Amino acid sequence: MNTRIDELLAAAQAELAQANSDGELEAWRVAHLGRRSSLTLALRSIGQLPPEQRRAMGQAANAARRTLEADLDARRQTLRRRTAHAHVDVTMPGYPVRLGRLHPLTLTLRDIRRVFAPLGFRAVSGPEVEWDRYNFELLNIPAHHPARDMWDTFHVQQDARPGDLLLRTHTSPVQARVMEQVPPPVRVIVPGKVYRYENRDASHEAEFMQVEGLAVDERITMADLRGTLTYFVRAMFGPDRDLRIRASYFPFTEPSAEAEMSCHACNGSGCPVCGGSGWIEILGAGMVHPKVLADVGYDPDTYQGFAFGMGVERIAMLKYGVTDIRSFYRNDLRFLRQFG
Ligand code: PHE
Repeated sequence: MNTRIDELLAAAQAELAQANSDGELEAWRVAHLGRRSSLTLALRSIGQLPPEQRRAMGQAANAARRTLEADLDARRQTLRRRTAHAHVDVTMPGYPVRLGRLHPLTLTLRDIRRVFAPLGFRAVSGPEVEWDRYNFELLNIPAHHPARDMWDTFHVQQDARPGDLLLRTHTSPVQARVMEQVPPPVRVIVPGKVYRYENRDASHEAEFMQVEGLAVDERITMADLRGTLTYFVRAMFGPDRDLRIRASYFPFTEPSAEAEMSCHACNGSGCPVCGGSGWIEILGAGMVHPKVLADVGYDPDTYQGFAFGMGVERIAMLKYGVTDIRSFYRNDLRFLRQFG
């Protein structure tokens, strides 16, 4: 009978050497140490043996059991070490950490802030879902006034009435919000998202960003606007830039202007970037309309101001040579990785 146990032991050990996974180890344990294993059955049948054989048989079976349990542990250790080695080679160099980049619009916004901060312009913000009152009425654009056609508007409610909500079409409503809140003097820039009901193409987006500028004080003149914008284009596009101002129209400024800078790509001699003219239009601006000042409670006889609004994507496109405005919103990593 002892030879029978030796055979069981040898067979079990041979099988164990073939077990290569946790699942196989468990199957082996059930087969050779479980309640229905040959060894367990042998132990159980000891009672049927002649009394003088029972003791030796019991000892042999128990010894075999302990041996197999130890073998199982050893095999488990071996497998564990083997898989650990297969997966972790501590001498291997680590995986490179892919660093994120700042979005080109974030970079441009930071640059714009950095230019205006030392001039005393504080950055403030306003809501993107705006009342008709701030987006239009307080900017001297009454309901049904044809000037509303200048901004293709997403309305949050059905009809365009003065009390209605819309997605702001420009950052100019924040002019009125700021002036309503604080007495003059005021000097702010307003970076933010704006919305227009517009077909998208290489130079138009329905969602884009603007930076508004507003300075109100006693004795502010158009020369201050000119000087501020000249400082801006030179800080942003190099010391050789020139600024020119052309007459334009916005209901909330009088006079209104379009500011152009000498082309940074050809230095004004004419190239594809400036359409051959040597000049690039960069923003709308003007002197704050006296009616706008009066409507927010400022005395237009004492205070004047200038305001401007620029498209951030447009500035970024010029700065980085991007030719399709939609690139900023495609989240294509091949594009985004080129910045920052
Ligand atoms: N809000 C105008 C626009 O979106 C730009 C502008 C701002 C013009 C401030 C004049 C003064 O087109």
